[in-house]
Amino acid sequence: MLALKIILYFTIIFNLSLCLPTKNKANSKFDKYSNDKPVRDKRSTVETKPKVTLDEFFDYTTFSHLSFSSTGQHLLFQTTRPSWNTSSYANDLWIYDIQTQNKTLITNNLNPYVTSCWSPSGSYIALLKYEKLIANDSYSQYHIYLYSVDSNEITSIPIGKNIPSVLIWSHNDSFIYFVTNEFVQLNNTSNNPYNFTSEFKKTQQQVKTNTIFRIDIKWNNDTISTTKNIIKVVPFSISELLYVPYEEKLIFTGLSYIFSGTPNIDIYSLDLNNLSSLTRLTHNKIPEKHLQLSTDGKNVLFTVFVLLDEDNNSATQTLYSLNLTNKQVSRFAEDFDGNIVKYIPKLDGGVYILGQWKTNVHIYSQQSPTEDEIFHPGFQGTYRSIAASSNPNCSIAFVHSSTEWPMEVYCVDDINNLLLAKQITNENKLFTERNLPQTQVYNWTNQDDHRVIEGILHYPPEQFRWKNLPLLVLIHGGPTSASLNELYPNCINWALLAASNGWLVLEPNYRGSTGYGEEFRSELRGRPLSLAGKDILSGVDQLIKDRIVNPYELAVGGCSFGGSLTNWLITQTKRFNAALSCSGQVEHVSSWGLTDAHDFYKYLFNGLPWETPHIYQNEAPIYQLDRVRTPTLISTGEKDTRVSPSQSYILQRGLYTRGINVKLLVFSNEGHTLYNPWNSKMKVQEELKWLEKYGRYKN
Ligand SMILES: *[C@@H]1O[C@H](CO)[C@@H](O)[C@H](O)[C@H]1NC(C)=O
Ligand SMILES: *[C@@H]1O[C@H](CO)[C@@H](O)[C@H](O)[C@H]1NC(C)=O
Ligand SMILES: *[C@@H]1O[C@H](CO)[C@@H](O)[C@H](O)[C@H]1NC(C)=O
Ligand SMILES: *[C@@H]1O[C@H](CO)[C@@H](O)[C@H](O)[C@H]1NC(C)=O
Ligand SMILES: *[C@@H]1O[C@H](CO)[C@@H](O)[C@H](O)[C@H]1NC(C)=O
Ligand SMILES: *[C@@H]1O[C@H](CO)[C@@H](O)[C@H](O)[C@H]1NC(C)=O
Ligand SMILES: *[C@@H]1O[C@H](CO)[C@@H](O)[C@H](O)[C@H]1NC(C)=O
Ligand SMILES: *[C@@H]1O[C@H](CO)[C@@H](O)[C@H](O)[C@H]1NC(C)=O
Ligand SMILES: *[C@@H]1O[C@H](CO)[C@@H](O)[C@H](O)[C@H]1NC(C)=O
Ligand SMILES: *[C@@H]1O[C@H](CO)[C@@H](O)[C@H](O)[C@H]1NC(C)=O
Ligand SMILES: *[C@@H]1O[C@H](CO)[C@@H](O)[C@H](O)[C@H]1NC(C)=O
Ligand SMILES: *[C@@H]1O[C@H](CO)[C@@H](O)[C@H](O)[C@H]1NC(C)=O
Repeated sequence: MLALKIILYFTIIFNLSLCLPTKNKANSKFDKYSNDKPVRDKRSTVETKPKVTLDEFFDYTTFSHLSFSSTGQHLLFQTTRPSWNTSSYANDLWIYDIQTQNKTLITNNLNPYVTSCWSPSGSYIALLKYEKLIANDSYSQYHIYLYSVDSNEITSIPIGKNIPSVLIWSHNDSFIYFVTNEFVQLNNTSNNPYNFTSEFKKTQQQVKTNTIFRIDIKWNNDTISTTKNIIKVVPFSISELLYVPYEEKLIFTGLSYIFSGTPNIDIYSLDLNNLSSLTRLTHNKIPEKHLQLSTDGKNVLFTVFVLLDEDNNSATQTLYSLNLTNKQVSRFAEDFDGNIVKYIPKLDGGVYILGQWKTNVHIYSQQSPTEDEIFHPGFQGTYRSIAASSNPNCSIAFVHSSTEWPMEVYCVDDINNLLLAKQITNENKLFTERNLPQTQVYNWTNQDDHRVIEGILHYPPEQFRWKNLPLLVLIHGGPTSASLNELYPNCINWALLAASNGWLVLEPNYRGSTGYGEEFRSELRGRPLSLAGKDILSGVDQLIKDRIVNPYELAVGGCSFGGSLTNWLITQTKRFNAALSCSGQVEHVSSWGLTDAHDFYKYLFNGLPWETPHIYQNEAPIYQLDRVRTPTLISTGEKDTRVSPSQSYILQRGLYTRGINVKLLVFSNEGHTLYNPWNSKMKVQEELKWLEKYGRYKN
């Protein structure tokens, strides 16, 4: 059954975005250009929108957590946007009235780590805000906030000195369950035999106990009184919690805070009528996640992401259903060879699945594990979120973007009318008033094994299908990830901005990427950099052959695994004028020893360092740095625990020693992803400067 090995990936690069019907910009004039002449002169005829600037690029809003009230009258959604004057990101919670189309801000200070939830009647929303306790004030407490849909007012319930990690309602509006974590650091020598003292190891926390609480709410007119009760203390960490009305049970799962030595993460159930009865429903070594209750309340749905099963067959994210009556597990979407991005239960049973196939994410549905999956044609691009209701005016809401239309929330009466969906937010309007790069899927063949590889080309605005353009190869991380048809600007996904600055950008979905089938994803095992590297260089060769790019104006860059590939590629060829190496690796054994995702190395390198030392060595850029000529801008987060910053320091020392132009940016107080939007902007600004300085052809 579900006996699979753990799955960990390296960097998840969130490539998000949504989209609208693709608009065809008239470029036929330029399509006719012959391959002979480089076309670089600016067009002056057509009225043009301005291009996206650096500042605009980083002022983008993303959407998440769509959910309908039980009545279907209201839609709740969350937005995230940079907050420049606080050097962080702000999270807002909105409620949308389907009938009046009125959008109301509930709070602009949402704690985004705990999902806000509807009360069963649809009258209240329970949420958390960002709060800081006042030091030495014994009265200072955290709160759960209740937003009343009718009065538009918020009531606060004090809950003590621990922040909840999860929040849910019971069968009616009188009870809320929440969980708190009590952490211990691994610095106690009796549970840490190694005496780790580095910043990196200190960040690896272990969870000691979790406490489940219940808040009882008494409603008296417009005031409420509450009491807090401890329900159960459990010796593991709960990250997701469901209330199952028909059995009066809580169902929950644990999250692995540390990637190594993790105890089993399984699904448990707690009988609320007999609190000494805690039952473990799954017995395996894989982490179950994204628990949801089926609409009939009798099945628990969950996903697992595995690298390898017991027979060493690799498998991608899979979706299961656990029958609470007979405890049987069955698998949904078994025939889908793409990547399951998200799912929700359908109101009439079964599931809606957001599935990535190649560069798009579409909506699929399946009524039961034994029935066929149905594809629901919609906009090209990427669906990131979906919610379903019984409201005939808006039975489906979703979040969508494409490379040509920014992310917004949409509403549609029927799943079969996805192309008629109505946009109900307009937070990223500015991007519709800008001249966005046009994109195209481009494919080529790796000559070694004749595999077809594809990628996305982003043309500079108004230069669609021009020839002889300067090229930036921008490589996604993972490798278990993909570059998609979506608009999700950040300091990793900045193809749009590079193209707006005159570069043709190729985002290759090299071997190991999701969405091209299981075989394609697992083929890079044992040769992760050499195979992926060859896939990418074959694409560059093809672009040169097709005369799309100028062979004297080539640059390469990427973050995380994309940074590792950048480091590898500059050792394999001297053709790149400039490289942007972000959070990448050069030496895999030390990297294995320092990462929080070391199981992934075993998968990627086909064994542990002492089992396959030749692979660790042959695939490592460090031993081939003598072949590098490319000026390289390196960036890393000082506190990165996924790929240690020492990897960047080694690269910097190596290139400096060899007299190559090299610059190192170290972001203090940042990890594998940057949390300060100013740092994101600065990183990309420096990278654009580096491209202009070294990437262009010089006589
Ligand atoms: C930050 O800026 C926003 C709008 O630009 C403003 O509403 C808010 O009050 C500012 N916050 C602080 C802490 O200055
Ligand atoms: C929208 O909702 C807000 C808050 O509930 C309310 O003040 C406002 O009058 C509503 N507007 C419309 C057009 O219904
Ligand atoms: C809080 O208490 C500690 C120890 O009693 C003391 O050192 C510290 O100054 C106090 N802080 C404040 C803000 O009162
Ligand atoms: C919720 O259910 C409990 C019984 O389980 C009942 O006592 C209480 O009045 C109900 N609350 C509401 C708001 O209906
Ligand atoms: C260290 O951990 C052990 C076992 O968890 C515990 O018994 C001991 O009290 C701890 N020591 C300190 C100094 O916290
Ligand atoms: C570990 O160290 C942190 C800070 O250095 C301290 O707050 C914590 O109490 C320590 N934990 C244990 C179990 O000693
Ligand atoms: C860890 O550190 C403690 C205190 O510094 C020391 O007593 C102990 O021997 C060390 N343990 C190891 C395994 O080095
Ligand atoms: C509830 O409010 C109504 C009208 O404001 C009032 O007449 C009634 O006494 C209140 N009931 C309670 C229990 O406070
Ligand atoms: C409660 O659960 C425990 C453990 O499963 C069981 O031994 C006990 O009989 C149950 N009590 C009742 C009243 O069902
Ligand atoms: C799977 O791989 C492991 C080591 O990577 C090996 O020990 C095991 O025998 C393999 N299992 C099968 C069924 O091939
Ligand atoms: C769950 O199991 C029960 C008992 O075997 C069965 O009657 C029911 O049809 C199953 N439900 C699903 C959705 O398979
Ligand atoms: C590659 O691209 C060509 C031209 O767009 C297309 O005809 C062909 O079907 C593509 N091949 C694959 C395997 O996707």
